[in-house]
Amino acid sequence: MQKVEIGIIGGSGLYAMPGLTGLREQVIETPFGAPSDAYMVGELDGRPVAFLARHGRGHRILPSELNFRANIHGMKQLGVEYILSVSAVGSLKEEHKPTDFVIPDQFIDRTFARQGTFFGDGIVAHVGFGDPICSVVAEAFAKACEEVGVVGKRGGTYVCMEGPQFSTRAESNLYRSWGADVIGMTNLQEAKLAREAEMSYATLAMVTDYDCWREGHDDVTVEQVIAVMHQNSANAGKVVRAAVAALPAPGGKSPFSDVLKYAIMTDKTKIP
Ligand code: ADE
Repeated sequence: MQKVEIGIIGGSGLYAMPGLTGLREQVIETPFGAPSDAYMVGELDGRPVAFLARHGRGHRILPSELNFRANIHGMKQLGVEYILSVSAVGSLKEEHKPTDFVIPDQFIDRTFARQGTFFGDGIVAHVGFGDPICSVVAEAFAKACEEVGVVGKRGGTYVCMEGPQFSTRAESNLYRSWGADVIGMTNLQEAKLAREAEMSYATLAMVTDYDCWREGHDDVTVEQVIAVMHQNSANAGKVVRAAVAALPAPGGKSPFSDVLKYAIMTDKTKIP
């Protein structure tokens, strides 16, 4: 299999990657089951790239039903070093307006029904996760936003909730009191698994709504999320394309390419 260093996970609103040429569909099987869809492998301005629609083409998979392990394992099998994720989020702060992009650097976990590790079943490992986002990819996103001429704020905390229902008002206000910036349903397990698989990960979070905390405004609805996404998906595609061009030259390794060296507690001579 040809090594593809760059993986893109497209979320709500980004189901295909504009500009990809020489496309082929690659169906990948993993020890953890099937990824959300086939990987669309091609070239973006001369660089090999693999695109995966997180929820599958046609948006058929709930956040809690996503096989995060298979999705990330598939990227690893392709040879990916850098994962660029795109997702729709609600804003928890007045200053993050619908159509803005935020490039979070922290997460708060509010999920409870997902597999978020490749380990277990006899192998114990604890990877460092104090800085869950790769600054190289985050910087490429920030530079790309500037180039495209859209608001792209570097840094911020992403609350990852289970869903599929949106938050209650009490929850939304609680997250605000914690100082969190945006809320979504998918990115934390991807970041954890990418770290365990020694790949870089950052997310471009597209603000679609003000969740339900903002007095005097309607609460978030799917209709609103979709309307903003449609308005903004062309920008998301442009930003991802520019971010790919801003990544380090081909042939490099993710800054996390050796994190497992320090993480596995099980006696390595006893691992089959
Ligand atoms: N995705 C988009 N808007 C959201 C919100 N308000 N809460 C959780 N996920 C979202």
